[in-house]
Amino acid sequence: MPGSIQTTSMNAKSLPPLPADKLPVHVAMIMDGNGRWAKQRGLPRLAGHRAGTENLREILRAAVEFGVRVVTIYAFSTENWGRPQAEVEGLMGILRDVIDRELYELHEEGVQLRHIGELEQVEPALQRKVREAIELTRNNDRLILNVAFNYGGRAEIVRALQEIIREGYSPEAVTEDVVSQHLYTCTVPDPDLIIRTSGELRLSNFLIWQSAYAEYYFPDVFWPDFNREEFYKALVHYVERDRRYGKV
Ligand code: FPP
Repeated sequence: MPGSIQTTSMNAKSLPPLPADKLPVHVAMIMDGNGRWAKQRGLPRLAGHRAGTENLREILRAAVEFGVRVVTIYAFSTENWGRPQAEVEGLMGILRDVIDRELYELHEEGVQLRHIGELEQVEPALQRKVREAIELTRNNDRLILNVAFNYGGRAEIVRALQEIIREGYSPEAVTEDVVSQHLYTCTVPDPDLIIRTSGELRLSNFLIWQSAYAEYYFPDVFWPDFNREEFYKALVHYVERDRRYGKV
C-alpha cells in the first residue's frame, strides 16, 4: 500500500494498515450460520448461538481497532419467533446474558448500545434491561452498536409511514429524506457495507431501505468462524471497490 495513504490510528498487529479515508463508517452484519456451525460439531443449535456471541466480542473489538464507527447486528428477526420455542427462549436468554455480563465492559470500551426493532413484544423484564443499557451508554462515542432485535425491514418502513401520516404530512411533502428520518436508524448514516456470513446471498428483510447503495460481502464461513482476519478481509474488499451511486 502506498506510503502516502492516511491510515487508521491503531492498526491491527501484523495486518497491513487500511486507508482511513476509504473505510466504511457503518458496517451491518447478518450473523448467519450458527446452527450449521453447531451441527457440524454435533452440538445443539444454541451452542452455535453462544459461540456466535463470543465471536461478536472479537468482531466489536476489531471494529474499534480498524476504525469502524457504527456496527449494526441482526440478532433476532421478526421471523425468528417461528423457530422452536427453546431456541427463541435461548436467544432471549443470550440477550439477557450479554447485558448482564458484558454491559460494564462495553460501557468501559466506549460502546454506545442502541436497539432497533419492536421492543414492546419482548418480555417486560428484558425490555427494562435493554432500556437501562441504552440509557447507561448513551453518551459513549467510540462505537455505536445497533442491535436489531425483533427487527424487520418491511415492518420498519410501515411504521415510518404510519408515523408520517400521523404527523400530517401532505403527499407531496413525503420525500426519501422524510422516510429516512422516520426509520430507527435516522441518526446514523446508511450502512456502507453489509456482511452476511455462511455463504447465503440474501438480505432477509434486514435494513432493506437503508441498504439501497450498500456494498455487500458474503464470506463463505459460518458466523462463529468470522474472526478478526475475516473482518479485515471484508474491509479490504470494501476499500478496493469503486462506489458510484448510480453515476459514472
Ligand atoms: C442466524 O444463524 C443467527 C441468528 C438468528 C441469531 C444470531 C445471534 C447471535 C450471534 C447471538 C448474539 C445475540 C445478541 C442478542 C447480542 P442461524 O441460526 O440461522 O444459522 P443456520 O442458518 O446455520 O441455521
